[in-house]
Amino acid sequence: MQDLAGKRIVLGLTGGIACYKSAYLCRLLVKAGAMVQVVMTQAAAQFITPVTMQALSGRAIYDSQWDARAPDNMAHIRLSREADAIVLAPCSADFIARLAHGRADELLSLTCLARPIERVPLLIAPAMNREMWAHPGTQRNLAQVRADGAIVLDVGAGPQACGEEGDGRMLEPEELLEDIVAHFQPKRLTGQRVLVTAGPTFEAIDPVRGITNHSSGKMGFAIARAAHEAGAQVTLVAGPVHLPTPRGVRRVDVISARDMLAACTAAADAADVFVATAAVADWRPLHTSAHKIKKDGSGRANALELTENPDILHTLAQSVRARSGQLFCVGFAAESDNLATHAKAKRERKGVPLLVGNIGPQTFGQDDNSLLLVDARTTRELPRAPKLALARELIAEIAARLPASRLPA
Ligand code: C5P
Repeated sequence: MQDLAGKRIVLGLTGGIACYKSAYLCRLLVKAGAMVQVVMTQAAAQFITPVTMQALSGRAIYDSQWDARAPDNMAHIRLSREADAIVLAPCSADFIARLAHGRADELLSLTCLARPIERVPLLIAPAMNREMWAHPGTQRNLAQVRADGAIVLDVGAGPQACGEEGDGRMLEPEELLEDIVAHFQPKRLTGQRVLVTAGPTFEAIDPVRGITNHSSGKMGFAIARAAHEAGAQVTLVAGPVHLPTPRGVRRVDVISARDMLAACTAAADAADVFVATAAVADWRPLHTSAHKIKKDGSGRANALELTENPDILHTLAQSVRARSGQLFCVGFAAESDNLATHAKAKRERKGVPLLVGNIGPQTFGQDDNSLLLVDARTTRELPRAPKLALARELIAEIAARLPASRLPA
């Protein structure tokens, strides 16, 4: 998906070994549709060559305020006026100190200082040794650059190039891309708390077997990501799936439907929106055997008796908070045919204001999907598209249905 199509990004590199990750970040930004203009400090050029960055960005880099290419010789003005965002990755401790003081004695700091603050955001991806990161001087400078309007992205923890281990690593390029993309999404759910279920559940028969289904969790994970991008605080209750947690999302892993219900009930009091995307197993074995069940020669699974699982969506939709309008509940329906009819009936049966229908075999495990949104008055089709694109549209539809008093002005 070209999440950054048409965006112009100044990618600033300062001196640090994490510059080796900036090459791949540049590639990811270009693949996401951005026009990337690289600006490097002299220290950055000690770690990675301008040739590499030029080849990956597809444009000659800038590294000097005396560069005569700009007709008026004011590269810092043109670069900062043309950008939709300036991203500093890596941003060294020294460069943060420069920003904190409003220094402007080389091109990159000059460009940051010259940017129109209200229109061109400055995103900073710090990278340094853990002691430098923890130093009160660095933390003081970070507080100052935040107060001056910069957005300071997280740092990672783990082994560092110096051989030590701790906080201060630059985020991985994929993580930075996710944060940059999120930055550009409209903040429709600022201040809202969103609870999402995703994936299948697994109902143990015995220690080695269970009942589950083919749900990949991709739609629910996309919804959690889209809600976070929209500014919400997100809790994602996930059944057994192999998917990375979206950035900034709190994830609670569960196995069975009853675990999922317990996790959702615990989180629902602190939620404003509940989106039930999980393909919860309808049935579970009445008894889970402590030992592997052996064939007994009868040709039948005599020990296997099933009982119905609790309906998580229905339970939460009947809660006092949902009934009083404090918890907006959204259900999903995976059908094989007659989507509109089944979805309308399911919306009423589940007692939710919004139900999202999709065709089961066309969504399970796929990266694309199409959705049918059904509320009390209307139906709306969202044609086939990547799940993340659909998730963003669904978030917009949810935001439009929340009481105006709960949303950002
Ligand atoms: O009844 P059915 O499984 O078709 O309903 C689908 C919707 O209900 C989905 O939103 C699903 O997450 C939710 N559900 C649930 N708990 C169940 C079964 C379904 O939350 N036990």
